[in-house]
Amino acid sequence: MSIRVRFWGIVPAAGAGRRMGTEIPKQYLEVAGKPILQHALEHLLRVPRLSAVMVALAPGDDRWSDLACARDPRVLTTRGGKERAESVCNALHALAGLADPDDWVLVHDAARPCITPQDVERLMDALQSDPIGGILALPVTDTLKDVENDAIQNTLDRRRVWRALTPQMFRYRTLRTALERATAEHREVTDEACAVELLGLKPKIVEGRPDNIKVTQPEDLPLAAFYLERQCYE
Ligand code: CTP
Ligand code: MG
Repeated sequence: MSIRVRFWGIVPAAGAGRRMGTEIPKQYLEVAGKPILQHALEHLLRVPRLSAVMVALAPGDDRWSDLACARDPRVLTTRGGKERAESVCNALHALAGLADPDDWVLVHDAARPCITPQDVERLMDALQSDPIGGILALPVTDTLKDVENDAIQNTLDRRRVWRALTPQMFRYRTLRTALERATAEHREVTDEACAVELLGLKPKIVEGRPDNIKVTQPEDLPLAAFYLERQCYE
């Protein structure tokens, strides 16, 4: 008899938000009445299948304890690292006593407050029988150019290019091996899928919603507020 596989969340929230340029790290900026990180966690916690969410925080973070989610029994915390991948690795280590090797881990950026529980559920439903896992992604609508020294070298085949979003969902064992190997080999990985690809595996994509934006620069704040307010009426 097989043991039921569980789902765990990881939210890397230890970044400084340099491109945002604010004194407060962007995950703590208020949008539509709440800090960005609070929105992201609330939306994840609306997914009943997530057993718990491990949040990686910057050392010395004194804003976390003011969030309502900090008191939720399904929310756990650990220390983040210097790079996003290190923060996710720390969170995997912190889950070691709880998660089984075949359990699923969903990594979601703290800076994506507009994730909908329905998108998370669709990712889970689409990939739970998959051996490897995959990510939410968006097809691109613009024509894409390959550029060198301000000159176009080529036009890319748009049908083959997708934008990687989060959550990214992998088996605990696969993700831990992938990130530990990428770190040991000093490979720069900007998302979990990239580390898994370096193992020679081919993560799947599941089409996500275009409003699942990553708040990166100041102009993203009013856009996130607009999407969050509009989602209230769905
Ligand atoms: N992150 C993290 N630990 C780091 C760096 C980033 O947990 N050492 C998290 C961020 O908090 C964010 C997510 O990874 O939720 C995506 O990273 P990004 O959008 O690049 O955020 P920052 O690194 O904070 O922003 P910037 O790159 O502009 O400094
Ligand atoms: Mg960054």
